[in-house]
Formats: sequence, structure tokens, C-alpha cells
Amino acid sequence: MEVANISSTADVAIPKDPLLQIIGQDEAVRIGRMVGSQRRHLLLVGPPGTGKSMLAQAIASTLSKPKQEVLVLHNPEKPERPVIQVRLTSSKKSEKKPQGELLEPTMVPAYISEKLGFRCRRCSRLSSPDASSCYFCGADKYKKVRGPFEDLLIGAGVPEREERVHTTRVRDGREELVIFERRGDRIALLTQKELSKMAEMQQKMQFKVLLPINRPTFVQATGASETELLGDVRHDPYGSHPAIGSLPYTRVVPGAVHEAHEGVLFIDELSSLGKLQRFILTAMQEKNYPISGRNQSSTGSSVRVDGVPADFILVAALNINDMSLILPPLRSRILGNGYELLMNTHMDDTEGNRLKLVQFLAQEIVRDGRIPHADSGAIEQMITYARTKAKEIDDVGGLTLRLRVLSGTIKMAGDIAASNGRPSITGDDVKFAVANSKSVEEQATEKYGSWYKASLADYGMKKEKGGTEVG
Ligand SMILES: Nc1ncnc2c1ncn2[C@@H]1O[C@H](COP(=O)(O)OP(=O)(O)OP(=O)(O)O)[C@@H](O)[C@H]1O
Ligand SMILES: [Mg+2]
Repeated sequence: MEVANISSTADVAIPKDPLLQIIGQDEAVRIGRMVGSQRRHLLLVGPPGTGKSMLAQAIASTLSKPKQEVLVLHNPEKPERPVIQVRLTSSKKSEKKPQGELLEPTMVPAYISEKLGFRCRRCSRLSSPDASSCYFCGADKYKKVRGPFEDLLIGAGVPEREERVHTTRVRDGREELVIFERRGDRIALLTQKELSKMAEMQQKMQFKVLLPINRPTFVQATGASETELLGDVRHDPYGSHPAIGSLPYTRVVPGAVHEAHEGVLFIDELSSLGKLQRFILTAMQEKNYPISGRNQSSTGSSVRVDGVPADFILVAALNINDMSLILPPLRSRILGNGYELLMNTHMDDTEGNRLKLVQFLAQEIVRDGRIPHADSGAIEQMITYARTKAKEIDDVGGLTLRLRVLSGTIKMAGDIAASNGRPSITGDDVKFAVANSKSVEEQATEKYGSWYKASLADYGMKKEKGGTEVG
């Protein structure tokens, strides 16, 4: 296909692969594909509108869906230290709590019934565990017996009644953990199977899904705040009051570094992150990052969740002038496990590249959805405009790749065509759009002669004749 033979952008095929929709950045696309498949990091440097955000999104689209669901569980021992659990699927079966096998105290080993308070350690006879001394011989059932001199060594002894006893037993040649648990006047035997079922159920009752398995693989962090980036534990005015307060785990909120787990964390203008960059660095090294309450005066500040997964691909964008603002260890971390890439600002004026530009026009028109396709005259005018801009902005021959500019122009031309009821965008529409799509600076310069004069006009001032300038 040659550009000269294309009568409308409607005839141009648009690649389904988002990476192939990026034109004029072949190196970036090649590296981007690798970054996705090998899970590396990427630093994108280049001027506005050259496709940095587009590339980051395209990389995310090449990733497979997240496989891990991340839960935050209530920690009954220490509610302000909720724990993290990672599941490979989101199972949602509701089961009955396993009861285990109920046994009479006579059916369990003697040391078990002793520990649970049924059997007297002195006379070995059975009585109710609620009675603290043996019904038969009067001995203190809950005193630790450690040897003949026990009274001398530990004084009066520490009464101790255990609710459950962990032990092991051998079944089919394999050792397994079992628990004997007191249930009124009987004893429940819980085997490994029942125990893991119970643990799972307990977690089911008191957990929150922190990162659902159906989450996007593209997360953009603006770096506007620390909490947005690193997560938070929300404040509860009632604290963890058992009746009216909420348990800490329910107030845990993930940050962008967590939401991007298994996906791409895109940071536009990395330099604007300032000091927060070092947290990104830590998360990248550890592949997890604790969540804690970040407001010191909040009830959330006493809460911390450790080991929250944060295994992301970092794609960071930056203006070339801001290179010095990247934290050196962060930059070396990216380089050590990824790539740095300078975006192209223009491409050679070849037939192949002009075709690419037409593909770009078709993409923009289809994506916009509100404007008609461009005819051959409009295509020609847009190519001319791409040449003009390359010369104007970058002072080079070729076609500009600062495509946001071109995207604005074709949309404006499309609006004109649409408002005039035309079935396609014509060359004249583009010419009109080019003539009118001037920046405020350009408009001001035309109107007042210079940007400086325009700014004076804004204050209702005039430049004093031959005198000092007032601003
Ligand atoms: N190389 C490209 N190929 C195709 N379209 C592009 C390309 N670069 C930019 N565009 C178009 O321009 C729009 C803006 O590009 P994008 O947001 O990716 O730029 P950016 O480099 O992230 O700019 P900024 O630095 O301002 O964030 C895109 O949505 C897309 O329509
Ligand atoms: Mg961008």
C-alpha cells in the first residue's frame, strides 16, 4: 500500500496489539515487549506527547492477568498487626465448621487428659476439669509437677489449665499434628485436615480482600501523596473499641505500589515524586512494602501490616531536563534490572514512515469516535504539517513524533468537518485547523507583537518609553 493510493483512513488497518499502535518508536517497542515478558523496569525519557504513557499502558496489556489474591486477616492475638495471606484463586465455598471426633476422657492418652484438667496427676482418677482440686485425693490439678523438689523450686506452683494440647501421632507411617481440645466434659480430636479447614474458615470470617484477583495490570501513581503511593490505615474515631469500633484490618488501604503487584506501576514525571522515590526503591528491592497508618494523630498510626506484596514492573517517565532529579540509587536499580530509553522526537520522511503516520491518523480518528475519517487531501495536509512541526520544534528534516500535537489538529479538523455535516475530513479542514490550532503564546505574540508585551497588557500596563521595564 502506498500513501498516494489511500483515499480514506477508513481503509487503513489498525493493529490489535497496543504495542504495534505506537509509531516511530521501534526501539521503545522492542524493549517494551522485553520489559513485559522478562519483568524488568523501564525509565522513559522524552518530551511530551511522544508516547511514553501509551507505551507504559501497552506494556501492561502484554502481561498475563494477576494470579494472586491478597488478603489482610484479622490477627486475634494482636489486632493492630493484621496479617497478609496470598491465595492463588478466589475460593468462595461456605462450609460447616469441622467438629472433629468427640472422645471420652478415658479414651485419650493419660498425659492429655491430665493437661486438659480431667485426670489427677497424683491419683490418676478422672473428675470434672472445672474443679481445681481432685475430687478423690484433693491434689491441686493445675499445679505444674516438675519433680520431687517442685515445691521448693517454684514455690506454690502456677495453676495451669490448658484448653488444647498439641501433639503428634503416627498414621499410615506418617507423623501428623493433632490437637486435643476440651469441649465441656468431653475431648475433641482434631486432625490435620480439620485443623487446616478451621484455620481457613476462621480467616474467611475475618479478612478483607486487599488486592482482588481481577485487578488491572496498569496502575498510575501521580505521587500526589505518600498515602496514595504507599497505602494507609484509616482513622477510626472509636479506635478498636470492641462494641462500636472497627477492627484495624478493616481499615487497611493499599497504595499504588501494592495495587500494581504483578502489573505495571507507571509513574509520570518521576522527578515530581521527590523524596518519595526512596520508598519506591525499597519496595522494588523487597518486592513488598508494609502498610501503616501515616497520620500520627490517627488511631491508624499504631497499626502496621508487614509483607504486603508489591512486586511490580516500574515504568517511570521523565523530561530530559529533570534527569538530575532522579535519586541515583533508584536510577541504578532500574539500570541494574531494566532499561533506560530516550524517546524519538522525529522520524525520517520515508514512504514507510508516512504510512505509519496514516496509521496513526486512523487510530486517532477511530479512538475519538466522534469525527469522520480523513480523505486523501486531509492525509496529505497532515503529512505536510508533520514536516513543518519537525522543522519548527526540533529544527530537523523529517516527520515529527510529538504526536499529541498532531492528534489535536486532526481532532479539530474532524470537529469542523462534523459540524459542517461532511462525510470525511478534507484538506481544507486540516488547513483551517492548523491555522487556528495555535497555542496561547502564539496567539498572544500575533496579537501583541511579543509574549512580553502581552503579559504587560494583562496587567493593564504599557512599557514605559525608553525607561525601565515594569512587570
Ligand atoms: N508514538 C506514538 N504512536 C502513536 N500515537 C502516539 C504516539 N505518541 C503519542 N501518540 C498519541 O498522542 C497521545 C499522547 O501520547 P502520550 O500520552 O503517550 O504522551 P506522553 O509521552 O506520555 O506525554 P506526556 O509527557 O505529556 O505525558 C496518545 O494518546 C496517542 O494518541
Ligand atoms: Mg504521559
